Order: sequence, then C-alpha cells, then structure tokens
Amino acid sequence: MEVAEKDKKQELKEFIDSVKDKEHGDSYLIAVLHKAQGLYGYLSREVMDTIAQQMQIPTAHIWGVATFYHYFNLTPPGKYVVSVCLGTACYVKGAPQILEAVKNDLKIDLGGITEDRLFSLQLARCLGACGVAPVVMVGDKIHGEMTPKKVVEVLNQYRKAEKKQ
Ligand code: FES
Repeated sequence: MEVAEKDKKQELKEFIDSVKDKEHGDSYLIAVLHKAQGLYGYLSREVMDTIAQQMQIPTAHIWGVATFYHYFNLTPPGKYVVSVCLGTACYVKGAPQILEAVKNDLKIDLGGITEDRLFSLQLARCLGACGVAPVVMVGDKIHGEMTPKKVVEVLNQYRKAEKKQ
C-alpha cells in the first residue's frame, strides 16, 4: 500500500515535469488535476498541497480551480461508483428515467455519496456498450438493457453482497 502511494506521488511528479513546458497557466493546472484525480480517484487536501508545492502556486488557487469545474471530486468516492450513461444511444432508450430511479433509490444527487459510503453517483457520456443501451456501470461492471426497475435490482444485489462480506 505504502509503495503504491509512493508510486502515485512519483507518477504525479513526473507528469507535472512533463507538461510544464507545454501548457500554460490554468490549463497546465487543469491537466495536472486531471492526472491527480485519475491516480487517486479524488483530490484530497493533501494531494492539492503536494501539487501546490511542486508547481509553486498557492493551494487556495488550486482549490478555486478544482471547485469551479464539476468534473473534479473533492471527497473520496463511494466503494462503488455508479455511472449512468447519458450518451445518445442510452439517452434515446430512456437513460434520464434510469438516472431518476438511481437518484431516488440512493437518495443522492449527481456527485453525491450515500451515507454508508457504498455508492457515489456520476454521469458518463458513452461507456462503449451502446448495443445494450441503456447502460449503467457499477464499479467496473457494465449492466445493460436497464429499466428503472432493473437498475434498482442491480443496486440491491450490491447491497446484499456487501452484507454477506
Ligand atoms: S451511449 Fe451509452 S454506452 Fe454508448
């Protein structure tokens, strides 16, 4: 675990060095924040401090940029990230209704996390499974041909599996 953390820090450091001559101003910072979120899943205060130090810019500025863009998560995601696809193929097959069903069932909004920290909710553009639209991804598993009823059943399966552990 410690080694993995060290590796992530090193990868982030190398990324910052590699883009510093190509990007400028906030686009440089945004590229770095994307990279950090990809590595850590979200942007913790600690990660932002590390970036601030290496880029020699105030953490407050990084915080401002990170909160401006909805794409960035500032809190740890749930154990399972639920991604509802709103790409065209899914949209025309009822993705908005699927999204509503998920929101109601989890009692959270987009970007939210359930009280038990089991699920967090986000949108996806296209998950590459248009043939089985509408699609919802839970963790790294794709669930196709969803209906508002089926998606709740899928979420219940995760809850049940969790209780068994
Ligand atoms: S549009 Fe949803 S999987 Fe492609």
